[in-house]
Amino acid sequence: MSSEVSNKSNGRSTTQNKFFTNDSGEKLTVNHLLEMKKKKEKVAIVTAYDYFNALICDRAGVDGILIGDSAAMVMLGYHNTAPIGMQEMLVFCGAVTRAVKRALTIGDLPFGSYQCSVADAVHNAVLFIKAGCNAVKIEGGTEVVPLIRSIIAAGIPVMGHIGFTPQTSSLWNNNRLHGKTEKSALKLLEDARELEEAGAFSVVLEMVTNEVATLISENLSIPTIGIGSGLNCDGQVLVSHDLLGLYQGAQLRFVKHYAHLYETIFDAISLYRKDVKEKKFPQDTNSFHMDKNELRKVLRKLKQQRKLRND
Ligand code: KIV
Repeated sequence: MSSEVSNKSNGRSTTQNKFFTNDSGEKLTVNHLLEMKKKKEKVAIVTAYDYFNALICDRAGVDGILIGDSAAMVMLGYHNTAPIGMQEMLVFCGAVTRAVKRALTIGDLPFGSYQCSVADAVHNAVLFIKAGCNAVKIEGGTEVVPLIRSIIAAGIPVMGHIGFTPQTSSLWNNNRLHGKTEKSALKLLEDARELEEAGAFSVVLEMVTNEVATLISENLSIPTIGIGSGLNCDGQVLVSHDLLGLYQGAQLRFVKHYAHLYETIFDAISLYRKDVKEKKFPQDTNSFHMDKNELRKVLRKLKQQRKLRND
């Protein structure tokens, strides 16, 4: 906060500093991410779902903002990602993309938006682009390759997502961690290669063992984006509510809390409540006054009215 310039005028404080800059730099495209892999520069991606948080993420310089279907849990209170639909996702996509100037924005196709037909998949990917996204993400391996090809043929960049795929994995078993056995490792490698061949510009590896994530990263020319998959992925993605310490659900080992906003917000709201109850807020500095002469006139009028009523 050292470079902060505080300007108090009209009772309103405006803060001008690096946190409020409009200079967001060049808009990133999928090609920039591919270049970053070549240059061995790590890709930093974070999820966002609303205008203001997306604005902060963009200004903080992340390379990508994923409007993840994790919105189902962290924004809408569902127990998993399955219930969220296109209408809800499109609201989040619009809010985020209206804020973002520099980062690549990726809309996460929700469960049910691409499983029924190729036409559905392309149609819904188009809706994300119309909402302002620069690319879409789709969960699955070889089974979604025809969908990916069709979406790309429509001109839309696609990010893959393998390993733990939250939309459906838990319907089959509770194993979150993938790549523990030879069979699982070879399947992941095959899925990753096929996604690359289909034209995906990158692939999320969720909960994949470090060893397998490293092998995949070494064998692909597109960037791997890890979540719970170790340091050797070409980039990382985290759910913003996790990294900010807002989400109070199950605490996952791969999450690092860079802040403790749940406690910060809880304390602030509690203090506000206490101040209201104890008549400590608002204070005179938070209030507005009328001209004393005008007030005198009003009081005189009220007195006359009261007298008339009583006569
Ligand atoms: O929805 C989401 O947030 C995701 C990330 C966990 C990759 O898909």
